[in-house]
Amino acid sequence: MEPLITCENLVKIYSSSISRFHKGVEVVALQGLDLTVVQGEMIGIVGESGSGKSTLLNILGGLDRPSAGKVLVAGANLLEMSAEELNSYRLEKVGFVWQQTTRNLVPYLSALENVQIPMRIQHVPEEQCRQRATQLLDITGLTERLQHLPGQLSGGEQQRVAIAVALANQPDLILADEPTGELDTITSARIYEILRKINRDLGATLIIVSHDPGISRYVDRVVLIRDGKTSTETVRVTPEVDFHDKHRQPLEADKYEELLMLDSVGRVQIPQSMLEALNIGSRVRAEVNQEGITLKPVEGHVRSTVSGDNTFKDGSIYMEEEPLEETRQTLLQKFKNLWRKEGNENRLDI
Ligand SMILES: Nc1ncnc2c1ncn2[C@@H]1O[C@H](COP(=O)(O)OP(=O)(O)O)[C@@H](O)[C@H]1O
Ligand SMILES: [Mg+2]
Repeated sequence: MEPLITCENLVKIYSSSISRFHKGVEVVALQGLDLTVVQGEMIGIVGESGSGKSTLLNILGGLDRPSAGKVLVAGANLLEMSAEELNSYRLEKVGFVWQQTTRNLVPYLSALENVQIPMRIQHVPEEQCRQRATQLLDITGLTERLQHLPGQLSGGEQQRVAIAVALANQPDLILADEPTGELDTITSARIYEILRKINRDLGATLIIVSHDPGISRYVDRVVLIRDGKTSTETVRVTPEVDFHDKHRQPLEADKYEELLMLDSVGRVQIPQSMLEALNIGSRVRAEVNQEGITLKPVEGHVRSTVSGDNTFKDGSIYMEEEPLEETRQTLLQKFKNLWRKEGNENRLDI
């Protein structure tokens, strides 16, 4: 099947003015990310805070541009689009659901009016807007709440309105960034079920970022992002879940398999836990045997107890504090010596 989304070697670098120890440091939020999603899929994206999940979603939603790499959505190359093309892409091709309920809705408009906004911007006739909005709010279970303002709705209900808003212009793709982040477990489950229903009944493709590893129950596969790259993929081994089937087996019986993702040039990211368990350092011996490829530790390249690489968990690059201070003192000393030589002794109170 033709992919709806293709990301190849996607890179996003933010130049931020303030970092932990530096000013003007660059943060590599995505470092060569590969991802393919086919039409009609519903996938989950998980990963530690700062791993690049929102960055990826913002790029796919046309809210941010990648620094390098390739990103195609429904045949459109997001890297090459003009600002104007990106504007219509955002309005027609994607629907967004954010974590903060307040970010999704206009507070002084009713649920029904909120859902109509994207259609009104597209000049859809008023009556048609109203009909479709009513229909969408029905799908998300809010028939009784059409005239309520966001403030008169519970958090879960507000997110259901937000889903209806995201669906308004019949987008190819729905992107949800931690849509259940502010909700309790039961309400979250209800949101996931509605998203699944939309995926089934309307054929929408969905990408849902979540903190909740339990999301694997509701989606086709879960992709783990680590340090700005897709790292592993968890797929359900047991047959597909039908949430409307009352006789289905309990969720606990579902089985999953976690696979390491191999990028286009053959790189894999091996989980820290595996490396630690086998004391594998910066080199590895790869052997091909009947079972597959075996990676073995190499003498002289055991794992150091101190983390060897200068990256935060969030993927940003930093200089260690002490060497930095040491460098500063050394430089200062050299500078003072130079000044002394030049007869500036009295000005050494720097
Ligand atoms: N606008 C920005 N300016 C500078 N750095 C940013 C910006 N947005 C995100 N980052 C950095 O990029 C990295 C990835 O962030 P993000 O995609 O928000 O992660 P996640 O959503 O997985 O928590 C982090 O190190 C974050 O600090
Ligand atoms: Mg985020």
